Amino acid sequence: MFVSIILAAGEGSRMKSNIPKCAHKVCGKALINHVVDSAVNAGVEKNIVVLGHKADIVEAEIKLKDKVSIVNQPVDEGAPYGTGYAVKQGEDEFSDLDTVVVLCGDTPLIRSNTIKELMKFHQENDYDITVLTSEFEDPTGYGRILRDDTDKVIGIVEQKDANEEQKSIKEVNSGIYCFKGNVLKDILGKLDNNNAQGEYYITDGVGIVNGMNGKVGGYKITDNGEIQGINSKVQLAEAESVMRNRINNELMLKGAIIIDPQTTYIAEDVEIGRDTIIYPGVVLEGETIIGENCKIGQNSMIVNSNISDCVEIMNSTIVDSSVDENSKIGPYAYLRPKSNIGKDVKIGDFVEIKNAKIGNNTKASHHAYIGDAEVGNNVNIGCGTVFVNYDGSKKEKVIVGDNVFIGCNSNLVSPVKINSHSYIAAGSTITTEVKENSLAIARARQVDKEDWVIKKGIRK
Ligand code: UD1
Ligand code: CA
Repeated sequence: MFVSIILAAGEGSRMKSNIPKCAHKVCGKALINHVVDSAVNAGVEKNIVVLGHKADIVEAEIKLKDKVSIVNQPVDEGAPYGTGYAVKQGEDEFSDLDTVVVLCGDTPLIRSNTIKELMKFHQENDYDITVLTSEFEDPTGYGRILRDDTDKVIGIVEQKDANEEQKSIKEVNSGIYCFKGNVLKDILGKLDNNNAQGEYYITDGVGIVNGMNGKVGGYKITDNGEIQGINSKVQLAEAESVMRNRINNELMLKGAIIIDPQTTYIAEDVEIGRDTIIYPGVVLEGETIIGENCKIGQNSMIVNSNISDCVEIMNSTIVDSSVDENSKIGPYAYLRPKSNIGKDVKIGDFVEIKNAKIGNNTKASHHAYIGDAEVGNNVNIGCGTVFVNYDGSKKEKVIVGDNVFIGCNSNLVSPVKINSHSYIAAGSTITTEVKENSLAIARARQVDKEDWVIKKGIRK
């Protein structure tokens, strides 16, 4: 069986953050989830996540809870520390015959295919331990790979323990390895902390296996972007940029048009249909799905939402909502959670919608608030209309039937029902049910005082 041990207990002190490192996000997704997803997609059957510092915060971020078992590394003052000690916490979770791949929660760019190839290389060559490596022009901070004259991997030396000659080595340890289960158990029994940091290093496993005359493999990949570790917020931004390019390129290869990929921020799980155009400054997060032939205008932000085909969104924010075919949103509209917009709808500038279903062909072209509502088809919602959904203690619903015309600057005070084919006169405050086919006027009648200006003697 393939088992992974994912290390995520470290404090991440170089991050200078109150958030534990593996809960930080790259392209809208927590580091820990990038790694768990890659392991699961590589075909790893059991994933052991080692948590410690602020474990509850990292655990709360984990999405695939059913694919993960958590073990806890003690992190009190003075407790042993290091990647080797972290792996040891998972010792009882795998057996001698398993193939164990160790991954770091702070190395989120690793592709599932690379993990798969690593496991294959490891098994086909019958190695006891295989280290995933790559080369960096500037390898500062990484452990260096030591090879002998025959190119065999003989050890890994940490930056802090390395001499000048070793520091000039460009091939680095990714922090990702494959082990035979029984060999890993042996190694874990033999680690010590005699090094510059006083930590238990899993990297010492290479030297230990060589000492036992075991077989060590080095699996070197050319794309070093995949193994970029994150230890600081500078590296967090670098990883964001690598991941952003990767996501945008994949979406463009599948048919989306991204005008300026450098300024377009799309999360990994977002889907975009063919010939949909994404303008600069757009942010797409969470589980957002966008159909074909849409236009997503500059600076729009869409989170966890479903956008059907041929929709136009201009400079708007949409959260936890849906928009059906051919509708136009914005500029400057705000769809808050649970706004479900029908087909051929127009939601114009400065319209805010929350927890409301809007029927097909309905228009709210400018300046309106529609909260906690069910609005039918072919409704016209005039400028300045407010759905008054909150009386100071509770929120109630406004129901509007089909083919209703709501004049400008109306207040619809909930709970209230406006039946189909009715008209609301501009400026009305509606508090009771409006019958089908009727006109409701709820405002003071206009009074004209003739010659009032002259009688007052104030005419200029
Ligand atoms: C580690 C490797 C280094 C490699 C680099 C790649 C060791 C000794 N060094 O260094 O050779 O080039 O990764 O990125 O392994 N962790 C725990 N518990 C601990 C300590 C760490 O779970 O007690 C976790 C951290 O949360 C992190 C991962 O292990 O996700 C790596 O730890 P980190 O301290 O970042 O190791 P590096 O110094 O980067
Ligand atoms: Ca690291």
